[in-house]
Amino acid sequence: AAPTDYQAENATISQGLVESNHAGYTGSGFVNYDNLVGSYVEWTVTAPAGPADVTLRYANGTTASRPLDFTVNGVAGAVGITFPGTGAWTTWQTKTVRLTLAAGTNTIRARATTADGGPNADKLTVNPTSDDTQPPS
Ligand code: GCU
Repeated sequence: AAPTDYQAENATISQGLVESNHAGYTGSGFVNYDNLVGSYVEWTVTAPAGPADVTLRYANGTTASRPLDFTVNGVAGAVGITFPGTGAWTTWQTKTVRLTLAAGTNTIRARATTADGGPNADKLTVNPTSDDTQPPS
C-alpha cells in the first residue's frame, strides 16, 4: 500500500473546529483543538495488518508543547507524543509515530492531554512500513 493522506477536516472531531485562517495547510483547512484535556481528532484509515509510520502535519504557534496520545481501535498506541512550538501558526511541521494497525479499517485517535489542547492539525499520513522494503519497480 502506498502512503495515504487523510485530512483532519474530514475526520471525526470531538471538541475542535475546522478553520482556515492560518495559511499553509493542505486540503480545505485544519482542525483547531479546543484548549482542554480530551479534545480529539479521529481518523478512519485503511491499511494492511502490521506496523505503519503515521505522520501528523501540525502547527503550534506557542512555545509550549501540545502533547497528544494516539490510540488505535481504542487501544493506546503511542502516548505522550510531544508537538513542540513550530514558531508560528502558519509554520507547519511533521511528527511521525509508529503504530500497529489491523487489516482493513482502523480508527486512529489523537487526543490532547493538557489544558492547552492539541496543536492545529492539518492531516495524517499513513505509510505501512512494508513499503520500506519493497524493491524498486
Ligand atoms: C490561536 C490560533 C488558533 C489556535 C489557538 C490555540 O487562537 O489562532 O489557530 O488553535 O490559538 O492556542 O489553540
